[in-house]
Amino acid sequence: MVSKVTAKAPSSTANLGPGFDVFGLAVDAFYDTVTLTKIKNGIKIITDANIPTNPEKNTAGLVVKNMKRKFKIKQGIEINIKKGIPAGFGMGSSAASAAATAVAFDKLFGLKLDGNSLVEFAGSGEKASAGTVHYDNVAASVLGGFVIVKTNPLDVIRIEPPSNLRMCIAVPTIKVPKKKTKVSRGVIPKKIKLSDSILNLSNAASIVAGFMNKDSELIGNSIKDVIVEPARQHMIPGFLKVKENAIKAGALGVTISGAGPSVIAFAKSSANLKKISMAMSKGFASASTECQTIICKPSKGAVNKRK
Ligand code: HSE
Repeated sequence: MVSKVTAKAPSSTANLGPGFDVFGLAVDAFYDTVTLTKIKNGIKIITDANIPTNPEKNTAGLVVKNMKRKFKIKQGIEINIKKGIPAGFGMGSSAASAAATAVAFDKLFGLKLDGNSLVEFAGSGEKASAGTVHYDNVAASVLGGFVIVKTNPLDVIRIEPPSNLRMCIAVPTIKVPKKKTKVSRGVIPKKIKLSDSILNLSNAASIVAGFMNKDSELIGNSIKDVIVEPARQHMIPGFLKVKENAIKAGALGVTISGAGPSVIAFAKSSANLKKISMAMSKGFASASTECQTIICKPSKGAVNKRK
């Protein structure tokens, strides 16, 4: 009988510009690792990271609680979380912990759940950090590649990204608000102009076509958002300069990664990715802000590493 399972889940970028709460892409920049061990009773969280260890307030804790309840599992579980993804920077950190936990739990109890169910359970954990459930990051982290999230009922469409798609991510060294996602969702307009909706829809549709046709150029030059990005950009020092510099250095498209403050540039593998990264650093430097830059590519989804 299995008594311990470890799963690893990738970071992810949500929205990809016009696909707010709908698009997600798993990226191989960082990974979280979660080990679930059967114990006598209760839910116990162990971690070195600066995250809540109360299961009710922890993403992974909530996933375990919800899965235990749904499948009437009385067994106690110890959750050991190793965070590789910086928390609060728009890289799907809490989603990856939730994704790894759902995948590990499924394996530990031999549930054999399908992708949509795993995404749904992982999403129920995201509530702990985001306040609301949205599935873009968790779907990408569970399934890997590019995902389109349909809701009511939840149905995730996964598309394998083109092999030459690359991203440069700049993670600024700034203090993020405690409930960052909640704060950055609060600045989004409640009503939008029809002309803005048309622009975003045309770009979102083109991104999907780009993934379907393995056309990185089409994906990159459709990363344009006239609704959410303008409302959030004031929260990122030097954003416009970072964007302008990256485009000048050869990026096809640039936007906020998820709810920010990381900025993501899309390019083809043939571009000078180091030059794009350096240009983004200089953009942040123009606003007296340091950043960490990572060149990455799409990742596979969460996987079990049976010990
Ligand atoms: N789609 C979400 C947002 C992702 O932009 O608020 C962050 O969790």
